[in-house]
Amino acid sequence: MTTPDDPDRVLIFDTTLRDGEQSPGISLNTQEKLEIAQQLARLGVDVIEAGFPITSPGDFEAVQAIARAVEGPVIAGLARTHQGDIDAAWNAVKDAAGAGGARIHTFISTSDIHIRHQLQTTREDVKGQARAAVAHAKQYLDDIEFSPMDATRADVEFTAEVLQIAIDEGATTINIPDTVGYTMPHEFTAYLGRLYELVPDLRKVTLSVHCHDDLGLAVANSFAGLLAGARQVECAINGIGERAGNASLEEVVMLLATRQADIGLHTGVVTKEIARTSRLVSRLTGYAVQPNKAIVGRNAFAHESGIHQDGVLKERTTYEIMDATSVGLEANSIVLGKHSGRHALAQALAGLGYEVSGQALNVAFKRFKEIADRKKQVTAMDLEALATDELREAASAGYALEWFEVEDSSRRPPHARVSVRGPDGDELTGSFTGDGPIDAIFHAISAATGIEVRLREFRIDAVTGGQDALGETSVVLEADGAVGSGQGVSTDILEAAARAYVRALSNAVRPRGVAAEDSTARAASASLSAP
Ligand code: KIV
Ligand code: ZN
Repeated sequence: MTTPDDPDRVLIFDTTLRDGEQSPGISLNTQEKLEIAQQLARLGVDVIEAGFPITSPGDFEAVQAIARAVEGPVIAGLARTHQGDIDAAWNAVKDAAGAGGARIHTFISTSDIHIRHQLQTTREDVKGQARAAVAHAKQYLDDIEFSPMDATRADVEFTAEVLQIAIDEGATTINIPDTVGYTMPHEFTAYLGRLYELVPDLRKVTLSVHCHDDLGLAVANSFAGLLAGARQVECAINGIGERAGNASLEEVVMLLATRQADIGLHTGVVTKEIARTSRLVSRLTGYAVQPNKAIVGRNAFAHESGIHQDGVLKERTTYEIMDATSVGLEANSIVLGKHSGRHALAQALAGLGYEVSGQALNVAFKRFKEIADRKKQVTAMDLEALATDELREAASAGYALEWFEVEDSSRRPPHARVSVRGPDGDELTGSFTGDGPIDAIFHAISAATGIEVRLREFRIDAVTGGQDALGETSVVLEADGAVGSGQGVSTDILEAAARAYVRALSNAVRPRGVAAEDSTARAASASLSAP
């Protein structure tokens, strides 16, 4: 599926798991990527760019797992124009052909800055590489996307020549990236208009846009692209991505939904799934959503001033252009209490999209009871945080926290003792006297595992309001030269911190998955510079 029959239908190409995952400090494992991909399918995106298979065996494994398991969207794998990249992408996505279908997305820069300084080659060579890449990919499948990287800083005539070649070789989607977030909306409109003039065949394929947010214009530029004729937007949940990120999916979608009468374009996104998808991505990546972020920030529908509150109480539309329920933000009703049983828990989790049974339900129920004993009301948001936490626990293949103790007093430095289960199942213990209880726990964990760690970030949030709210912690650290992030949830903030630290450590030191099927691909990955 590349060109929908409906000319007003905008395809949503989600790159949370590829460009989004390139954000510094994000290290999702296969299980976590699968969970996000399943939620993206529930959200109704058209294409999931699941990763860049050549970059590491772990990336390959995740793309393959997503292609095999996720029904609905097209599953795309990214590839440079190298034959090895394309083979790796094909091997990773090929099993998706029976479901939504597979796509190979190949790219090469057309700007002279990139051609001269990064690729250190010539325009002629770029044309040759584009031709060979699309032709090679076309041997495997029909659905090929081609991107001229850094197009907005490139000579439009030269970019047009390269696009014509890609279309002649069989590209079905042409994606124009504003790789460094440099363009302005009116300029982008003119650029795309000129491309249509120079390459009339662009009308036979799907035109796509991929805008970065370095100047805060990613959504505005994507919108300009749509007005110029593009019918696919590449975007990421919460706007994550390289540097300042990509166009935010929720902003693009809600712009089109809210102003549909004026714009006349629409997407297939189930907008009620937006808030949940945003929370899941934020939890698993450790990237917090700023409170005033459009659509999904916790204040996006909050009214502080008396005049605004008064207006909204009288008539919601006085100060709200969207209904919070349309993006799924009403879902914090009280669902369970400490007398609720296993069946009620299973039902509540199913309502949130988590099918839990057997041993997993036993574990979830034990965890739920511990929390319900300490917290009067367990809300949907709490359950969602717990379910994600359990998923992380099940997915983490490395170390696991067994127990910890802290002696803390205002008269002497806190002392922590911890027990951690190692990857081979052995019990490791450590102790440390630190500057504060969390510092003591973190160092005790490092002592137990024998791994030297540099803490980069530590954050504590509350899942809901109220004094008995669940605490949610996020840790980013460096261990053995690799960066790992981890999150933890508990009513006890020390326990949440300890869990997050152990998971971040496991993510940093975990072996990166299975090998790609093709040896050329593995060799090429050694010399890779990601976009
Ligand atoms: O920003 C960019 O140019 C990219 C391409 C791979 C599409 O991410
Ligand atoms: Zn990008």
